[in-house]
Amino acid sequence: MAEEIQKNIDADLQLDFIKGLIEIPPKPEMGDYAFPCFQLAKNLKKSPNIIAQELKDKIKRNYFEKVEDKGPYVNFFVDKGTFTKDVLTNVLEQGDKYGSSSVGRDKNIVVEYSSPNIAKPFHVGHLFSTSIGNSLYKMMSFEGYNCTRINHLGDWGTQFGKLIVAYKKWCNVHELHKNPIKELLRIYVKFHEEAEKDPDLNEEGRLHFKRLEDGCSEEVELWKKFKELSLREFKKVYTLLGVDFDSYAGESFYTDKMDAVIDEIDKKGLLVESNGAKVVMLDKYNMPPCIVKKSDGATIYATRDLAAAIYRKKTYNFSKCIYVVGMDQSLHFRQVFTTLKLMGKDWADSCIHAGFGLVRFADKKLSTRKGDVIFLEDLLNKSVQRTLEIINEKNPNLENKLQVAQKVGIGAVIFTYLKNNRERDIVFDWNEMLSFEGETGPYVQYSYARGKSILRKAGNITGTVDYSKLKSKEEFELAKVLNNFRDSILNAIDKLEPFIVTRYVINAAKAFNKFYNAHNIINVEDKDVKLARLQLVRATCQVLKNGLNILGIDVVEKM
Ligand code: ARG
Repeated sequence: MAEEIQKNIDADLQLDFIKGLIEIPPKPEMGDYAFPCFQLAKNLKKSPNIIAQELKDKIKRNYFEKVEDKGPYVNFFVDKGTFTKDVLTNVLEQGDKYGSSSVGRDKNIVVEYSSPNIAKPFHVGHLFSTSIGNSLYKMMSFEGYNCTRINHLGDWGTQFGKLIVAYKKWCNVHELHKNPIKELLRIYVKFHEEAEKDPDLNEEGRLHFKRLEDGCSEEVELWKKFKELSLREFKKVYTLLGVDFDSYAGESFYTDKMDAVIDEIDKKGLLVESNGAKVVMLDKYNMPPCIVKKSDGATIYATRDLAAAIYRKKTYNFSKCIYVVGMDQSLHFRQVFTTLKLMGKDWADSCIHAGFGLVRFADKKLSTRKGDVIFLEDLLNKSVQRTLEIINEKNPNLENKLQVAQKVGIGAVIFTYLKNNRERDIVFDWNEMLSFEGETGPYVQYSYARGKSILRKAGNITGTVDYSKLKSKEEFELAKVLNNFRDSILNAIDKLEPFIVTRYVINAAKAFNKFYNAHNIINVEDKDVKLARLQLVRATCQVLKNGLNILGIDVVEKM
């Protein structure tokens, strides 16, 4: 439609500009799409009403049932048969690729997400980062961007000195191998308890970290062991979630790359001494200084991020580097990006912090563990187990129940994370999250499975499809939703907001259920009607599948 307008208007307008102007009228009597002409009045030196009238007269009719001018608007009533045919053939021809494009061709994107800390639990906040990052990665690759996924592991810092002390004093090696993170957390907590009584322990910790930084073999071996054991646990979670990375270059990766950064900051005259520490002043930007070297000479989190950004630019030549990290680190990233800018890195503007909110639980029981830590595996397993209970109630004879429960239960958790604007806090509520009705993962997965069951029942009916048979309001509305899939992905990428696609799949499932409730599909006399409706079901399933997949959620054929 935008193309038709572009061809017929007297001005030189970009397609994207036209697309941005096109509106969906509030009432169907006003057409399926409307094009307002106010903005063009100045340019064309004509009144909007005249522009609308002239445009209406010129537009070719074949694609539209009717084109009207109403004051400053041109209202388009699309020819339902032609429109539906175009949309559905498009969906079915492109299949798993429907919705994709090559708009991102030749653009390199770095997406950093998950980034848990070694020897610490992978918590609900890391899952927030993981689901957003994974879906951003999937949608951007789907649109042709060349993406690199980085897990910026928290595997360096003074805490490893403390952990080494704790390991030597209190570690139960048997437990460590059975349940690494829990044992490492136990001894870490114990270290802090003991250090309250005996402050010398802290000094001992510092010493061991120094030895680790200096490459002393005993410390390095222990650190490696903690890292390996932790990664093994993290990878279990990634396998459950179906998440992967191209690089696990975490904080430790930058230990030998920081001196150069500090030198460069110094050479540019930005390095200032403050209470023994080396800092970059950011008061002009209303921010506290960015500390790059502590008074004891140790580098810190920010220094490693400066080195990481520079390394990534050099290695991946990114057009965007996206950091999916909680909003509690907003200041940190503003400091890092501003420092890069001061260092003369003009690409600092393409570093983007995609922040997210907090996670809370309606069900208190889950969050009462020591230190308020929720083990993610427990959360995911609980979701799977509850889903299994629901399946046992609703559909006890289902085949592969456990597998289905896995996909639906885990899908439900991911869906909850991706359902709203990422900056909004989320409150987990089991009943709401696992409900088959309402705006949930299981609801969308169930809609897909319902569609597939219809197709299975219908068997193999062939013939030429007469799309003009799909003329009811519900059928046409559904086709319109299917047509909007790609726009919703592009919009989600533009705003780095996966929820736009999550909302989209909810709306597609809703439109499908309206259609399903209003019309018979299998029990219809007219074979042409039946064939056309089945085609609509098939296309809907394809779009739901593609939509869920780019959110990182698997579909199930039966549930
Ligand atoms: N490991 C950090 C945490 O758990 C997140 C790392 C964020 N990424 C970064 N480049 N600083 O809070």
